[in-house]
Amino acid sequence: MMPEPAPTLQQLLAFYLEAGVDCALGDAPVNRLDEPEAVPAPAAPRPLPPQNPLRPQPVPMSPVPRSEISVAPEAAIASAREAARTAPTLDALRALLETFDGCALKHTATKLVFADGNPEARVMFVGEAPGRDEDIEGLPFVGRSGKLLDRMIAAIGLDRSKAYIANVIPWRPPGNRTPTPQETQICLPFIQRQIELVNPDVLVTLGNPSTQALLGTREGIMRTRGKWFDYDTGTRAIRAIATFHPAYLLRSPSYKKMSWQDLRAIAKALQQAS
Ligand code: URA
Repeated sequence: MMPEPAPTLQQLLAFYLEAGVDCALGDAPVNRLDEPEAVPAPAAPRPLPPQNPLRPQPVPMSPVPRSEISVAPEAAIASAREAARTAPTLDALRALLETFDGCALKHTATKLVFADGNPEARVMFVGEAPGRDEDIEGLPFVGRSGKLLDRMIAAIGLDRSKAYIANVIPWRPPGNRTPTPQETQICLPFIQRQIELVNPDVLVTLGNPSTQALLGTREGIMRTRGKWFDYDTGTRAIRAIATFHPAYLLRSPSYKKMSWQDLRAIAKALQQAS
């Protein structure tokens, strides 16, 4: 049998793209196959000194590769809560996130995606996490779904000068994978503080993950969308509503009709609150 020809560079790149590997994490290539074994093979057993059978013996620890040493999730969540609580302004909160080391996503992302729009706006939209375009620009919702979000808010007379836009997770998960529940829990105190500092009259969660994370519901978006919730910012109760994520509407345009109903409800609530 003839051996398979080696894949071309284009085929390899296509394979990586399909697997979600669409950006470089460093300038120089790393040959992982050349790396030394992370856990060395066990050494030959040494003769043990005579032991007191009643005294517990220390358990030898296997060395942990440096790359796998990370902050324990509970400690990261606690330190995120503490850090976010102390940020007096949005600028301070952004600066805190720039130095916060408790979320591993930070190390694979290119840029922190903090927010876009007007911090004085009366309406705040919150999505799930940045994608590739957002990671490159450092701004939320600038890709295809962002263009649709712009058209959605334009339909009720808003633009980015009259709205504030952020995400639950401020760093792009590699290959746009779904953030883990731990990553969401670690980032949650920051977006909660961001909402408190922006202090909008109306909060709009875009899609299921941000709705479940912020509005504390386990129901799916089909049940939650279009319903009003009370959201406690920490300093006051505001109105919150869930609607479809624009990326979902791009895939399922038939739901645009329902999303239009949600947008009209948002416009009405803004009128009432003014
Ligand atoms: N999807 C999101 O949830 N947020 C973005 O910023 C972009 C796409």
